[in-house]
Amino acid sequence: MATHIPTRVTYELPRAAIASATRAVSSNWKEALPVLKAEGITLRELRVSDAASLLALLTTDEVTRFISPPPTTLEGFERFIRWAHREREAGRYICFAIVPDGYDTAVGLFQVRQLDPLFGTAEWGFALGEAFWGSGLFVSGAELVIEFAFECIGAHRLEARAAVDNGRGNGALRKIGAVQEGILRKSFLRNGRYLDQSLWAILPEDRWRSKAVWG
Ligand SMILES: CC(C)(COP(=O)(O)OP(=O)(O)OC[C@H]1O[C@@H](n2cnc3c(N)ncnc32)[C@H](O)[C@@H]1OP(=O)(O)O)[C@@H](O)C(=O)NCCC(=O)NCCS
Repeated sequence: MATHIPTRVTYELPRAAIASATRAVSSNWKEALPVLKAEGITLRELRVSDAASLLALLTTDEVTRFISPPPTTLEGFERFIRWAHREREAGRYICFAIVPDGYDTAVGLFQVRQLDPLFGTAEWGFALGEAFWGSGLFVSGAELVIEFAFECIGAHRLEARAAVDNGRGNGALRKIGAVQEGILRKSFLRNGRYLDQSLWAILPEDRWRSKAVWG
């Protein structure tokens, strides 16, 4: 069952959260990720203790249908989490755990990786346990991550790739104001088949435009 969490975040909330987060980390996210909060959701650094929950929620057929296969064992997820910490320390990648209010462990992930050595362009990806689809967690968390990428990491372009057949993934990106820039033909190998992907991007100015529309 999906939990019911308000779907619309106010703009003030994530911006305020980011402002305090920025102060808290002095923009040095490579040492540790800040805790970001909006209504109903906390984003925080992954912990090794999240591995069991992630294994249970992110390895189902529904979740993995259109994404690179996640680890399939507890040890595999624990290794992934340690790798994520090392990559963050190296300044190449960050991974936020999605924790709904009332939960202690992660029910999904937002990942952001650099596409150039300065992290000016970045690619993000996300996955959420199926029970939380349609709950509003994605939109609330995405707002926080986008602001973090632009204001704390300093990225000026955030790209996402979604298999064309991934209706929910594409719908989610469209909904938050990402712009579809094209189709990457046969760019993603999944289950022995090359799939077309949509290329989506968000620039800071797109955010202000979509804020005006939403407002
Ligand atoms: C992608 C993901 C994080 C989005 O979270 P979510 O809670 O499902 O997203 P939301 O429900 O807020 O938004 C999805 C939107 O797509 C719409 N949608 C669903 N199926 C659709 C389809 N076949 N075609 C078009 N739009 C569709 C939904 O109606 C919703 O829009 P609405 O709220 O305006 O009705 C989640 O679905 C997930 O983890 N999927 C598996 C992993 C994955 O595919 N990751 C993305 C890789 S790009």
